[in-house]
Amino acid sequence: MTELHDQDEGPAAWREPRHIAVLGATGSIGTSTLDLVRRHPEAFRVESLTAGQNVDELAALAREFQVRYAAVADAGQYAALRDALAGTGIAVGAGEDALVEAAEQPADWVMAAIVGAAGLAPALAAIRRGVTVALANKETLVCAGELVMAEVARHGATLLPVDSEHNAIFQVLDGERRADVSRLILTASGGPFRHTAREVLDRVTPEQAVAHPNWSMGAKISVDSATMMNKGLELIEAHHLFQMPETRIDVLVHPQSIIHSMVAYRDGSTLAQLGLPDMRTPIAHTLAWPGRMTGPVAHADLASIGELTFEAPDTERFPALDVAREALRRGGSAPTVLNAANEVAVQAFLDGEIGFPGVPASVKTVLDRHDIGPITSLADVAAADDDARAHARSLARRARASA
Ligand SMILES: NC(=O)c1ccc[n+]([C@@H]2O[C@H](COP(=O)([O-])OP(=O)(O)OC[C@H]3O[C@@H](n4cnc5c(N)ncnc54)[C@H](OP(=O)(O)O)[C@@H]3O)[C@@H](O)[C@H]2O)c1
Repeated sequence: MTELHDQDEGPAAWREPRHIAVLGATGSIGTSTLDLVRRHPEAFRVESLTAGQNVDELAALAREFQVRYAAVADAGQYAALRDALAGTGIAVGAGEDALVEAAEQPADWVMAAIVGAAGLAPALAAIRRGVTVALANKETLVCAGELVMAEVARHGATLLPVDSEHNAIFQVLDGERRADVSRLILTASGGPFRHTAREVLDRVTPEQAVAHPNWSMGAKISVDSATMMNKGLELIEAHHLFQMPETRIDVLVHPQSIIHSMVAYRDGSTLAQLGLPDMRTPIAHTLAWPGRMTGPVAHADLASIGELTFEAPDTERFPALDVAREALRRGGSAPTVLNAANEVAVQAFLDGEIGFPGVPASVKTVLDRHDIGPITSLADVAAADDDARAHARSLARRARASA
């Protein structure tokens, strides 16, 4: 572990740099993480980086940070990565096992920011090393929440939520007794189609869906925000992270994205965490935890923002939230199926195979027809995930054929 002068102070007080790994280094979260690291070169030593297929960007980052190991998920890109890093002394790998190897490098802080269920095995590998894992990849907890939390406990790992809502709740819970918590309140921006009429939703394009009003994010989570499945995935994530039943987790639409979430306590107090919508704030919180570090994000100027507004989610136009609640209530393999079917449906929407309302509709169909079983191993996760993906793909093919 990094030796600190004083646990209550941030990187400036560290006697030695914190050794870190960034899984999903070329993505939106990975880029924001490395932006923070660049601002504190003395405080961090980057051990490993991964990408899905963007070898050029990965190689450039690996050279810049002089990492020990760089891995690309696409096995066909091995030679390209090897050639791009020839003569640097940086070890390279490709394929799923290489992602796990990247997570197993000697880092004491690991950013898990691969998108989708592909992030599960590397995140688990880091957890099994008993280190601090900053978890952006919410799909890890959605598709295998109980397994993952059991491994966190077994290996004494520290799981720090990066998702802004969960990071807010984590901060607001600090020092409080769990028995005093009445409810968790996840805020949601409402996405780009908050005011879009039901009949117009049939015609919205992928370009419109990924244009989030407040946050700059990868394509998959942007579509999830537009359908509000993102909030459904976050509900499941919050259930596992904070051991809170689904019935005590509320969702509140807050279009300005300044309040990142809240906790209601039994004495009538509701505590919130506020900030501008920039992921570098929650990432900085996890990078410096249990201290704080200086970050590049300005404080929210509430006088110029003027007003913070709230409304209930519209589950008629955005049914994904209820579908996710149902998956969580049903338990077992249902959330795994929800996640896999959603990944396929989002990609089918981005590829123009299905319309926007087809995304939650497809997920619901797959979920309704799935025989729910227990999840007791990664093999159970893989089986439910495969089954759901195959079903969701067949629905997308059928939709394309009949278009
Ligand atoms: N962006 C946000 O503001 C935000 C906020 C909260 C939570 N999150 C969560 O953080 C995670 C990352 O989101 P993001 O917005 O950063 O996504 P992103 O911009 O799409 O980046 C995803 C990263 O994962 C890599 N990747 C893609 N497919 C992969 C695969 N099959 N195997 C291994 N690596 C793969 C990508 O590599 P290439 O570049 O080579 O494709 C990239 O490095 C998601 O789980 C998301 O829900 C994001």
